[in-house]
Amino acid sequence: MIENVNILVIDDEETIRDACRQILKKEGYSVKTAEDGIEGLRLFRTEFFHAVLLDLKLPDMDGMEILSQIKEEHPKTPVIIITGYASIDSAIEAMKRGASDYLSKPFSPEQLRLITKKSLDSRKMLIENIYLREELEKQVEFNMVIGKSTVMERVLDIVKRISSSDSTVLITGESGTGKEILAREIHNHSPRRNAPFVVVDCGALVETLFESELFGHVKGSFTGAHETKHGRFEVANGGTIFLDEISNISLNIQAKLLRVIQEREVTRVGSNKPIKVDVRILAATNENLADLVRKEKFREDLFYRLSVVPLNLPPLRERKEDIPFLIDHFINKYCKKTRKDLKGVSPSVKKALMEYDWPGNIRELENTIERAVVLTKGEKIELEDLVYHGISASSSLLLPVGGKYKSLNDIEKEYIKIVLQAQHGNKSRTAKILKIDRKTLMAKIKKYKIQ
Ligand SMILES: Nc1ncnc2c1ncn2[C@@H]1O[C@H](COP(=O)(O)OP(=O)(O)OP(=O)(O)O)[C@@H](O)[C@H]1O
Ligand SMILES: [Mg+2]
Repeated sequence: MIENVNILVIDDEETIRDACRQILKKEGYSVKTAEDGIEGLRLFRTEFFHAVLLDLKLPDMDGMEILSQIKEEHPKTPVIIITGYASIDSAIEAMKRGASDYLSKPFSPEQLRLITKKSLDSRKMLIENIYLREELEKQVEFNMVIGKSTVMERVLDIVKRISSSDSTVLITGESGTGKEILAREIHNHSPRRNAPFVVVDCGALVETLFESELFGHVKGSFTGAHETKHGRFEVANGGTIFLDEISNISLNIQAKLLRVIQEREVTRVGSNKPIKVDVRILAATNENLADLVRKEKFREDLFYRLSVVPLNLPPLRERKEDIPFLIDHFINKYCKKTRKDLKGVSPSVKKALMEYDWPGNIRELENTIERAVVLTKGEKIELEDLVYHGISASSSLLLPVGGKYKSLNDIEKEYIKIVLQAQHGNKSRTAKILKIDRKTLMAKIKKYKIQ
């Protein structure tokens, strides 16, 4: 039994409207009819329809125009064109403009049934596909890659052990090392996973606004407080709050935060009634908090309360074994986004990416891959797809390997290989770029045994 499928029939011929109504109702669909375009569009906008049957020749409006409006407002709603036998051309034109199928008059009940069912099925599939793709993208978006480096394995091990507890975690690491994604990972593995994960950027607001952002305020507590507001701690109730860039909070708010951690309750600005909250606290910083404690810019007691479990994410240059896994992950992520189907990176790209030091850490690697995926025209990402970024071919070329500087011959060989590859093996073009003649190039290729 098909439930609640609503179909709109727009046709000026009464016999057609009646026939459609009877046949489709027998199939279990609800049917609404309109005898002209204006009435049809009015109905279309007041109710939800799963499909529309539309006559192209109407007394008041051009059917094509109605089709365009329907497609603009609800692109996924299938529109089946009803057309006289003589006007197959316009039916084809309508299909080009997004109609899903057409019925030419006179049609049999069987034809109507089949074509309607086909359109409804394809709509369902389209919507399911979009839904699945979005789900998949979300999974990839917050999917944290754990590579093969021992440092990261240790981090993961701690994460596993603490995820079921409520302990406060202080995540440290340079910018772009994945502090936020790690915090989400901890939340997603905790019993709180179905409750909110609330991010607070502690550097983003001036002090007075920040206090009300965190703890809320009551109506009239300061100019501009027109309504009572729930703070982030209240919003996160039952879940996790992530205090990002924690080093930025003032000493005054540090004192208040300490109280929240100790008492597990918040007091809205302008109120004296504390509210109980059940929130797990995760914090992150890319500064050395212990240093700030020594300089008396950060309260020592708060520092100890926050760093019950300290987790340090090492910079990417100290865990280069993870790079290949991250490359695969980001290629996958951005191929899905751009609907490309790439076969990975060429060996020279992999080498360049492994040799680079990544001052911007994983974020920089991710941006590099994203740009390369967009730029590349081939099946694989080549060095030339990277040159718009900080890592040009030359930086990897000139960097010492394993602490040893390269000889001029080594560099000449590598450079010839890079240009040859970028020119897809075309020796005349390569020679021209290198400003040597083709014979000299051939000799060097032979000397260096370049494939
Ligand atoms: N292990 C990982 N697996 C997959 N993606 C990662 C990983 N680590 C970081 N990323 C990605 O790199 C980017 C930066 O990560 P994130 O925002 O967590 O870093 P951060 O340490 O909070 O940086 P900042 O200090 O600049 O705020 C994000 O897009 C994130 O998805
Ligand atoms: Mg961050």
